[in-house]
Amino acid sequence: MLTFPRRVGIVATGSYLPEKVLTNADLEKMVDTSDEWITTRSGIKERRIASENEVSSTMSAEAASKALQMAGMKPDDIDAIIVGTNSPDTLFPATACRVQALLGMKKRAAAFDLQAGCTGSVYAMAVAAQAIATGMWDNVLVIGVETLSRVINWEDRNTCVLFGDGAGAVIMKPVEEGGIITVDLRADGHFADLIELPAGLAKMPASEETLRKKKHFVFMKGNDVFKFTLKEIPPFLNEVIKGANLEIDDINWFIFHQANIRIIDSVAKRLKIKEMDRVVVNLDKYGNTSAATIPIALDEIVRDRRVKKGDKILLVSFGSGMTYGAIIFEW
Ligand code: ACO
Repeated sequence: MLTFPRRVGIVATGSYLPEKVLTNADLEKMVDTSDEWITTRSGIKERRIASENEVSSTMSAEAASKALQMAGMKPDDIDAIIVGTNSPDTLFPATACRVQALLGMKKRAAAFDLQAGCTGSVYAMAVAAQAIATGMWDNVLVIGVETLSRVINWEDRNTCVLFGDGAGAVIMKPVEEGGIITVDLRADGHFADLIELPAGLAKMPASEETLRKKKHFVFMKGNDVFKFTLKEIPPFLNEVIKGANLEIDDINWFIFHQANIRIIDSVAKRLKIKEMDRVVVNLDKYGNTSAATIPIALDEIVRDRRVKKGDKILLVSFGSGMTYGAIIFEW
């Protein structure tokens, strides 16, 4: 278990989902798939798609404004913005810098993106927690956001049925009581080719061939990701929970990465979670929004008042890298 010099809390949340809904029935008209296949294999019924004028920075700013409002803060109260994303507006500058400008911040707050696959927002919260704990920053805005619809091959049924767009934000700051109990981040780079966007940079610069072969889109060995996750995540979570001197029954809410209902159910079963209503699920509505799933789901249970003060919440994600990570905190 980590000992923090200063107690750090996640004190406010916000989220933004684009208006456009793409249902499984819509996808049936686009690729050789069916509502039945998508529902039984993934649990997803529909997902949101960014409009033409929306990008990760604009959706981030919307989610951030709601989190700032909940925290009773102004943009210039923020000392740093960290954006976890795999679909930034541009590789550089960082989406976080654009968010800073969109929020109208005058202060020169630090702003950077953090790329850790779907685990990006959990990694970002962990980095923020360390910086707040040591006194480097006081108030940090952490965002998980994706505009994956722009980097999905809409002719590839292996991926296009799974992903969606959206943004979630949290505000982190020093607190007197509660707050973060433990943080654990991992990665296994031997599995780096399971989920990748191969072309457009140093390894495979953009060319007519990369365009023809559609190498500028997400490639995923879904079945191998599935196996990796079920092998790694349950023992990892048991270790994290035990390391924090907690039992499964001490955790009020489990927020698992919203990738696949079969993964969520299998992990919950292996952890022997008795009441499944403690496991948050919204992938039926939004699909896999990658780095955004965790803050979006957290915002949902905070705003519908499922979460009560003092509740213990476990966040866990996994994704391209293969990265994975967990945070346990008290609301
Ligand atoms: N519609 C119909 N059939 C399909 C579709 C589709 N959309 N996609 C694949 N199939 C077919 C396959 O071609 C295959 O056919 P075959 O048996 O004739 O070869 C069959 O369905 C089974 O395919 P599998 O890949 O074995 O199916 P599986 O049960 O593994 O489910 C899925 C696929 C949903 C992708 C699952 O493996 C999964 O969720 N994996 C994890 C993905 C994940 O969690 N990603 C998270 C990280 S994402 C990130 O970091 C950006």
